[in-house]
Amino acid sequence: MRPEERTFVAIKPDGVQRGLVGEVIKRFETKGYKVTALKMLQVTDAQAKAHYAEHEGKPFYPRLIRYIQSGPVVAMVVEGYNAVAGVRHLMGSTDPDKAEVGTIRADFAQVMEYNVVHGSDSVESAEREIAIYFDENEIFDERKCMSELVTEYLDAD
Ligand code: RTP
Ligand code: MG
Repeated sequence: MRPEERTFVAIKPDGVQRGLVGEVIKRFETKGYKVTALKMLQVTDAQAKAHYAEHEGKPFYPRLIRYIQSGPVVAMVVEGYNAVAGVRHLMGSTDPDKAEVGTIRADFAQVMEYNVVHGSDSVESAEREIAIYFDENEIFDERKCMSELVTEYLDAD
């Protein structure tokens, strides 16, 4: 059995501004992943720098920092089996021109600089990125909540 994982996903400012929030979330939900944390926020300087630390010094870094802060972002924790790689698969390649048709970036983006969505590239990155954007008490265990509700309902008879 592949491991149950959690990953960090962000719908970037272009995706939010273009009204793609529902469409993007739908793709993760219809795959069967659970969204266990969700919020809209303005990314701070500190968050942007922490998030993209690995890219500091690269030619595109200043534009990347400006882009991620150019408007509200929708941040999420997404959980499921093999969710880190699975979410990246649904997102498609960084460059929308190279992304497979049917992926978010192929279907909704034209250029690499504005590619609608971010997803963590490893379990370690996911934990690091989740901690930048969420407190643990903002992340929910939906399965547990549902099963507790069902048990409560059944026990009430
Ligand atoms: P992400 O982190 O956003 O999920 O994307 P990724 O892993 O597929 O790509 P990564 O190499 O981590 O790059 C982060 C974001 O920086 C922008 N980028 N621009 N102009 C360029 O050469 C270039 N390369 C990367 C993209 O917005 C990319 O998603
Ligand atoms: Mg990346």
